[in-house]
Amino acid sequence: MAIRIIGTGSALPEKTMTNEDLTRLVDTSDEWIRERTGIGTRHISTGETVVSLAAQACQHALESAGRDASEVELLLIATCTPERGIPCAACQVQNELGAAQAAAFDLNAACAGFLFALNTACAYIEAGIYQNALIAGSEVLSKIIDWTDRSTCVLFGDGAGAVLVERCEQGGILAIAQHSDGNKGAVLQCDGRELHNPFVDVPATVPYVRMDGREVFAFAVRQVPSCIQEVLGKAGLTAGEVDLYVLHQANKRIIEGISKRLAVDLDRFPMNLDRVGNMSSAAIPVLLDELNREGRLREGMTLVLSGFGAGLTYGACVLKW
Ligand code: ACO
Repeated sequence: MAIRIIGTGSALPEKTMTNEDLTRLVDTSDEWIRERTGIGTRHISTGETVVSLAAQACQHALESAGRDASEVELLLIATCTPERGIPCAACQVQNELGAAQAAAFDLNAACAGFLFALNTACAYIEAGIYQNALIAGSEVLSKIIDWTDRSTCVLFGDGAGAVLVERCEQGGILAIAQHSDGNKGAVLQCDGRELHNPFVDVPATVPYVRMDGREVFAFAVRQVPSCIQEVLGKAGLTAGEVDLYVLHQANKRIIEGISKRLAVDLDRFPMNLDRVGNMSSAAIPVLLDELNREGRLREGMTLVLSGFGAGLTYGACVLKW
């Protein structure tokens, strides 16, 4: 494969919410949340949308790559919290950016959405259909959270991250894999609109996130290391040769478990979840953008990206920066 990331960007809502703020909503404590998850604060929308956050993150990614929106050929938005059923968020972002040439559509693979979108873009570029793609993960999870349920409301945050990828001669993405296990769908779900027409009127559904936390934890710690080993094997690399593991930021203890299973020091697993919580599909590109802007990504470095979440879905990729 010869596709590389040439620009990164991110956008977070202005309002932050601390663990202390949450203690005024539900029976919880800063100590419990930090100890079990590693999360200290998160950004919560007071008006920012999946579209406005994605457009801002995409604009930053274009600026960081020194490219104009008019050059974008494919625009993918990974999201599980779009404002509208139709039109898709990607078409709205296309309009905001003025990316008139781009084919635009959304993709929902929950917290693995960014990895699935990256893989989709790679397939189009490898097939010679497009030369570049702008990919964002954008979520306003706060609107699908039950703010009276302490087992879920402490975990999530809102935000968006984006990358611009294009065909290159060498390096870039070395291997990528994605998997789904629909059999475990009930472990983490949120209902959508119920069937309501002249023939059927089903009982009201539950439009909030419901989760079996322990099952999610066990799935992530088991499947993510094996998916990472799969892409490392394809690329002919070992876990020890990877400079940084940029993983989905769900929970510090999950990342610690993955680091242990791979026998790689935790200091190669950068984390920002203490400041932003779990932002689902936005987590990986936001962290990548932070690392890029801090100058922590040097040319030639080997990175592993890995996302995992509802579906269940999981994926990983290994790349040369
Ligand atoms: N504050 C205080 N107590 C709480 C809270 C809270 N916010 N939430 C739950 N508890 C209580 C429970 O009610 C329970 O009390 P009980 O023993 O009296 O019944 C006790 O804490 C233990 O509950 P568990 O659910 O067993 O706690 P656990 O140690 O499993 O931690 C957690 C829960 C943090 C959700 C953990 O299971 C986890 O990290 N799971 C991974 C889930 C995840 O990261 N999901 C994100 C979405 S999916 C994704 O992004 C991949």
